[in-house]
Amino acid sequence: MLFAFAFVCLGLAGHVEPVLGNTDGVTSIFRPLSQPAQEIKETSLLVLAICGSIFAVVAGLLVYAIVRFRHRAGDELSEPPQVYGSNQIELAWTILPLLIVFVLILVTSRTIADIQNRKPPPTAVQATVIGHQWWWEIRYPELGIVTANELHVPASDGRESRPTFLKLQSADVAHSFWVPLLAGKTDLIPNRENLMWIEPTKPGTYPGNCAEYCGTQHARMLIRVVVHPPDEFERWAREQQQSASLETNAPEGRKVFFANSCVNCHTIAGTSAQGKFGPDLTHLMSRQTLAAGAATNTTDNLRLWVRDPQKIKVGCLMPNMQLTDEEVDQVVAYLQTLK
Ligand code: CUA
Repeated sequence: MLFAFAFVCLGLAGHVEPVLGNTDGVTSIFRPLSQPAQEIKETSLLVLAICGSIFAVVAGLLVYAIVRFRHRAGDELSEPPQVYGSNQIELAWTILPLLIVFVLILVTSRTIADIQNRKPPPTAVQATVIGHQWWWEIRYPELGIVTANELHVPASDGRESRPTFLKLQSADVAHSFWVPLLAGKTDLIPNRENLMWIEPTKPGTYPGNCAEYCGTQHARMLIRVVVHPPDEFERWAREQQQSASLETNAPEGRKVFFANSCVNCHTIAGTSAQGKFGPDLTHLMSRQTLAAGAATNTTDNLRLWVRDPQKIKVGCLMPNMQLTDEEVDQVVAYLQTLK
């Protein structure tokens, strides 16, 4: 039963549950599409096979003994002969497990060393991911880009290897970065920097989630990795490097935004909004989701979010700003100019 339970857990691992919209949430550790997830899968299948055969042998012998030597009508009620000590058997069940554990140690440490010793090639993209309650801040120091909740990376193709190396940090409590199709989990720990890398080859959007309980909205701390063909990635980076235009066709909304405390928490590059506490909004409309994947980025959801964030994400640190319906519409119109 334990084994079956473990298997169900493995199967469910990586299941992601957003609140509104977005159905591409189910992902599996058994069909990885990137290094190092592939190498990790191969190692874990070997470990699973070894442990599975031990389980089959032990459980098989147990079932055989229970059935073969069960109590039958007419059995004598005296005790069977008692056997004490057998050098062969004791040696066998000491040495065999030792050998098995030794094999497991060797294969696992080879995989760990392979992954940890990878050096970034000159073509590598460097990004810093900072965990917050409950969203992801993403910085590309070399490209001068700050964004949130959606990590954009180039795909490696046959000609050029372009892995992305991630520095993982936390602004508050421990979180864990996990995109099952791309790599294993790595924790984001306060006052510490952890490193990991991914090297996807197939463009697409890869969902993931925080994998370390970090408070009320841990389950809705989702991350997406968007893998672009190399030239498309350069185009994305150029767009993200632009500041927001000061000219806006939603001047009322802009006024409401800047008259409220939105600016204390959010940055909009090129304006006086330079808050660092919440996600950077400079290119909000380039993102597929709101509130770290809790809702798809549609006008209705954005309105709902601006009116009362607690309706979408109870406990989140963005307060209800008590805006009137008209002000909500104006702010949403302004936010939608942040392309
Ligand atoms: Cu962040 Cu769980």
